[in-house]
Amino acid sequence: MAGMAGERVGLVLDAWVKARAPVNIALIKYWGKAPSSLPEDANLPAVPSLSLSLAGLFTETWARFAPDAERDTIRLGGRPLLPEEMRRAVALLDRIRAVTEVASPFEIITVNHVPTAAGLASSASGMAALAAAAGRCAGLDPSVPDDLGLLSEIARIGSGSASRSVYGGWVAWEGRRAHPVAPRDHLPIAVVVAVVGRGRKAVGSRDAMNHTARTSPYYAGWVQQAHEGFADALAALAARDHARLFAAMERSTWRMHASAMAADPPVFYWQPASVAVLREVAAMRADGILCGATLDAGPHVKVFCDPRDSEAVSRRLTTVPGVEDIIETGPGSGLEMQVGDEPSVGGNDDSQESA
Ligand code: DP6
Repeated sequence: MAGMAGERVGLVLDAWVKARAPVNIALIKYWGKAPSSLPEDANLPAVPSLSLSLAGLFTETWARFAPDAERDTIRLGGRPLLPEEMRRAVALLDRIRAVTEVASPFEIITVNHVPTAAGLASSASGMAALAAAAGRCAGLDPSVPDDLGLLSEIARIGSGSASRSVYGGWVAWEGRRAHPVAPRDHLPIAVVVAVVGRGRKAVGSRDAMNHTARTSPYYAGWVQQAHEGFADALAALAARDHARLFAAMERSTWRMHASAMAADPPVFYWQPASVAVLREVAAMRADGILCGATLDAGPHVKVFCDPRDSEAVSRRLTTVPGVEDIIETGPGSGLEMQVGDEPSVGGNDDSQESA
């Protein structure tokens, strides 16, 4: 193959590789980047984060080498990527080429299996699936723990939260790569997403966190308290203490949003219905249902609870004015790989969103 730098065990030369990666939700939030200048240092976090990978919400990506092509081609649900999406994806693929010393362009086909209105960003699952599929073509083997760690590091270059989506269950991310902290069955958990408001697309998390870091007087406080919150959540998880874990999640959420709301001009993601859902969560707690809420860079509220309560939680959230949809999910597994799987898609479905 043209452009190959010698033989590497495990290169996939003439076949597609398929990777499936889960969406994840952060309980302890990544919000802010450490300063960096090298491309491989992109999206190093200013704060540690803790997430849960989710079941049934994922991205599927096929990759193969395209040695005769001039550059990488990527189609998302049948459409080319937007310029900014493409820039991030190519930075990730460049990193794979650099670490594996393979020079060939890639052909990529990708599909998000995340309901369009879910309010769950698919950039994390998308960049993780991209790293895994293209990385496996280039000889990185996700079944080898150190290669999987390297794929986490490479996925991070596309999007910080993607570093966590190469693993299933409970995942921590500090520094260059994420690492698994507990398997998906460690703690019985259900996640009920209350989808609210489909108005104007919110400011993306990347721009918003950079703007917060530049202009919010509360950003320094956010960074300063983050390690303590992270350690508290890890201890709660280890002790299987739902109440303590939910409390740590809510503190991280309010503090992240407070730092963003104090930016100039403010970044304000909540809508009236978001606040109505948060009031209902407080009411459910007062009624003895153990649950906690979190929001990311959008108005949707994700409610964590015991699976035995998920039906009651869903029912109560459905009655909140402004809630348009409810999605029930829970802990999911990590990467799934298949070598030699032909893309089952590639047509023209332009309903896909990347983030
Ligand atoms: C609020 O990973 O989307 O969801 O690294 O700039 O691509 P970039 O940002 P991204 O930020 C996610 C922010 C968050 C919290 C979290 O997932 O930890």
